[in-house]
Amino acid sequence: MAPLISIKSSEDKLEIVNQLLLPHTTEFIQINSVEDAHDAIKTMKIRGAPAIASLPALSVSQHLTRGLKSSPVPDYLLSRDALKTHIDGILAFLYTSRPTAVNLGAATRRLTKTLNDGISVEKEPREIVQDLIAEGRAVADEDVGRNKEMAKWAGEWLIQRVRDQGLDFSRGLNVLTVCNTGSLATSGYGTALGMITYLHETQKLAKAYYTQTAPYHQGSRLTALELQTLQIPSVMICDTMVGSLFQHHSIHAVVVGADRIAKNGDTANKIGTYNAAVLAARHKIPFIVVAPISTVDLDVADGSHIPIEQRPPIEACLVRGIRYPNSGESEQVQVMITPPGLEGIYNPSFDVTPASLITAIVTEKGVAVKAEGETSGFDLSPIV
Ligand code: MRU
Repeated sequence: MAPLISIKSSEDKLEIVNQLLLPHTTEFIQINSVEDAHDAIKTMKIRGAPAIASLPALSVSQHLTRGLKSSPVPDYLLSRDALKTHIDGILAFLYTSRPTAVNLGAATRRLTKTLNDGISVEKEPREIVQDLIAEGRAVADEDVGRNKEMAKWAGEWLIQRVRDQGLDFSRGLNVLTVCNTGSLATSGYGTALGMITYLHETQKLAKAYYTQTAPYHQGSRLTALELQTLQIPSVMICDTMVGSLFQHHSIHAVVVGADRIAKNGDTANKIGTYNAAVLAARHKIPFIVVAPISTVDLDVADGSHIPIEQRPPIEACLVRGIRYPNSGESEQVQVMITPPGLEGIYNPSFDVTPASLITAIVTEKGVAVKAEGETSGFDLSPIV
């Protein structure tokens, strides 16, 4: 079966799959404005660090493509100053949609640079707009290729490490992942799930284990669907079962994506990642982070400076899905699992895994490992 897709874009149409309705209903919704893109990200209809960079970039391209064709000519095409004010405003607005994933900021900074470069050499507004349209599309298009590169780097690194340690993997590798990092979270193939796919494609994977990833259930709703679609042998576990899994099964690695990687390697990722890292260290299981270079934020010295998004408390009280037993209709329901009026709910969307618990960080450029005995962090310079 063909891999799932999160974004469909053509010359004049931009659509996303509404991830709130997956895995039971596949509904594409149209994105017709930068406001639609902002809303889709804020309400989690689209999520995953690379995908929430691609969509805003494409929505800027769409907005500007329409502007070039529209009559009367929009005011912002009349002067470089007007264009700058207009684009700066749009990018600042899109940047506010979610705070933790740095990829969104990296995309808006790329577009700002294209704008400023065009202005500094006194290009005509229409020419700058053409450059911005191309740059917006490039942000989304580049994602798939680099995902395949990092997936291969990560997969080959793990195979080599297991070989070097003389471990038996004649029946394949067992790998645990958290959250959803596949085609739905990116423009295609995925980061951590890309590594799992690569191992499967090269006949090196025994099973992919994945956590349900409460409270949003990116694991049980989205990763489950992706692995099923790709026919990759897999086992779902509840978030509370990671320790038990490590005690009773041979797990060769934990592989996760990232929303922001600080200069020292501290990594923000979906809530529950830190728990898995602590348990992996206890069981001497390598812990691998796979993410594009745009996820590395060299302006942030360590994880204590990464902004952590707090989601609305109600989201931790609800489970969404279809009625069970399934009546045959895919009527979507949200079920409340807490007493009404409950107060005191802690709902951070991400946690930070310290570099000391991470074995390897992989980007499209290669693999960084900590030097033997190094406790202070990673030298990421070779992979950014
Ligand atoms: O809140 P989400 O679903 O956007 O969080 C997603 C994650 O934490 C992913 O693991 C991360 O963005 C990497 S996606 C390739």
